[in-house]
Amino acid sequence: MCGIVGAVAQRDVVEILLEGLRRLEYRGYDSAGVAVLDASASEPQLQRLRRLGKVQALADAVAEQGLPGGTGIAHTRWATHGEPSEANAHPHVSGDIAVVHNGIIENHEALRAELQADGYQFQSQTDTEVIAHLVARAVSGGADLLTAVQQVRSRLEGAYGMVAINRQTPERMVVARSGSPLVVGFGIGEHFIASDQLALLPVTRRFAFLEEGDVAEITRQSVRIFDLENQPVEREVRESSVEHDAGDKGEYRHYMLKEIHEQPQAIANTLEGRLLNGQLNLEALGDLSDVDAVQIIACGTSYHAGVTARYWIESLAGISCNVEIASEFRYRRPVIRPNTLLVTISQSGETADTLAALRQAKELGITKTLSICNVPGSSLVRESDMTVLTRAGAEIGVASTKAFTTQLTALLLLTAALAERAADASAVQQRIAKALESLPGLIQQTLSMNDDIERLAEHFADKHNALFLGRGDQYPIAMEGALKLKEISYIHAEAYAAGELKHGPLALIDAEMPIVVVAPHNDLMEKLKSNIEEVRARGGELYVFAEESAAISAAENMIVVPVPACDDVIAPIVYTLPLQLLSYYVAVIKGTDVDQPRNLAKSVTVE
Ligand code: F6R
Repeated sequence: MCGIVGAVAQRDVVEILLEGLRRLEYRGYDSAGVAVLDASASEPQLQRLRRLGKVQALADAVAEQGLPGGTGIAHTRWATHGEPSEANAHPHVSGDIAVVHNGIIENHEALRAELQADGYQFQSQTDTEVIAHLVARAVSGGADLLTAVQQVRSRLEGAYGMVAINRQTPERMVVARSGSPLVVGFGIGEHFIASDQLALLPVTRRFAFLEEGDVAEITRQSVRIFDLENQPVEREVRESSVEHDAGDKGEYRHYMLKEIHEQPQAIANTLEGRLLNGQLNLEALGDLSDVDAVQIIACGTSYHAGVTARYWIESLAGISCNVEIASEFRYRRPVIRPNTLLVTISQSGETADTLAALRQAKELGITKTLSICNVPGSSLVRESDMTVLTRAGAEIGVASTKAFTTQLTALLLLTAALAERAADASAVQQRIAKALESLPGLIQQTLSMNDDIERLAEHFADKHNALFLGRGDQYPIAMEGALKLKEISYIHAEAYAAGELKHGPLALIDAEMPIVVVAPHNDLMEKLKSNIEEVRARGGELYVFAEESAAISAAENMIVVPVPACDDVIAPIVYTLPLQLLSYYVAVIKGTDVDQPRNLAKSVTVE
């Protein structure tokens, strides 16, 4: 969601903060702001600049005005309370206090009424401004900044990560974490805070991750961390292995294209140590021998990975599997079978609904939890018994690509582990191992479809709607294709299980409706061909991704795009790529903001 960066140093920090914001901009990008304290002035100054729009607008304003000072906080926003505007942009100021905040304060209305009754005037529509006034009120009552934040924390309901600075004590910041991640960066004679380590890689590689309920006081010389009971605690300082240039686009025009092309390597990374010389090594996944049922929970693209896995887990491992969107699961009263393994899937590991669903599942009695996640140290990883890290590397494009295919790869490994008790366990595992071994090479080969798909994209750019069809384990791939197209090209797209067409959606078919079909040569091929004919007979315009052996030929109103042949078991992963490329090129032709599509943000840490 929003991004936070803060610094306490001897040098001017504004450029560090701006670079941090650029690196976090994919988290939220409707407005940005910075507040800096200059302790070297005879009277310490608190200066704030905020701009509507991208970080560059803020950087231009900073370049014009200059913003000296060694202590500062900065924020890039994804609006929750109050429209995107300069007045609603962070930092929010109350007297000498400035605050940036990620998350949502659920009881902000009651707090606002209380503060207004106390004479505080609000300049914004945000929930965050209540924090600034609460901290200012505590400080004017005699508390130091640390105590003030500790006191305020007990008044806040909801999920948040926040940083506060005080003009009267200019060489410190106080930060609090409750449901929204924060990481402390350690430099030499300087310290930093951010909502993601990626923001701070240009200045340090040494990080301590704050835990739920932590409050920390950060100065140039020290970092003091306190737990929920306000007792001092140590948090391990670790050297980051994330690459410094993980935030660079390199030779690519967009992060999304870069990340699509990184998939052969990302998948190889997922497999490293888990598939050795054609043999699966699944011990690290943990003991799954007593699992009788699987419940998968996730959101968005990660949910589509879960739906695909259900086909695998039931057909290959013979274990019953349910999949549900986290925001639904968490508010239902699901009936959980004994010996159920709960699998959560998340790129970020910080998605609020997925985390809440995990906690809800534990309350319902699930005792075995496994997360499939891309971010080591994330909340999801910490709160799960077992984890399979996808190792996709930082994903900056808001539209998920390599995170999805590496999730699928990890889920296939999990399927192989769950198949241990199946009657044909060894055959299933050998098949999966063989297919996975070929996968990075196949994905590389599939990327050579790039130019054909770029040309194909022309057919979509002036359309307002599109349908995506698939059957079996390709149905969730059709869902993912439709999601990609709508989120970055803003073309309305729906996915249907192809057999469902005649139950209603056929009524939509006309020459203006492009229909994308994912058609690997599997045992549902003949059924799918009938569905294709149903569409052709009604004048629909078809784009069929199929391997040559499927013998689907181009015809009037039907373009067939050849896809490399592969084992059915990995076909969902292989067929994802052309759909990613298609949505990418449609968006490029339409001129949308591919990496930061409107209204969206990476890592949805609010409900
Ligand atoms: C779509 C997309 C989102 C995320 C969803 C869950 O391209 O990226 O649908 O998949 O917000 O996010 P994670 O995987 O971080 O839990």
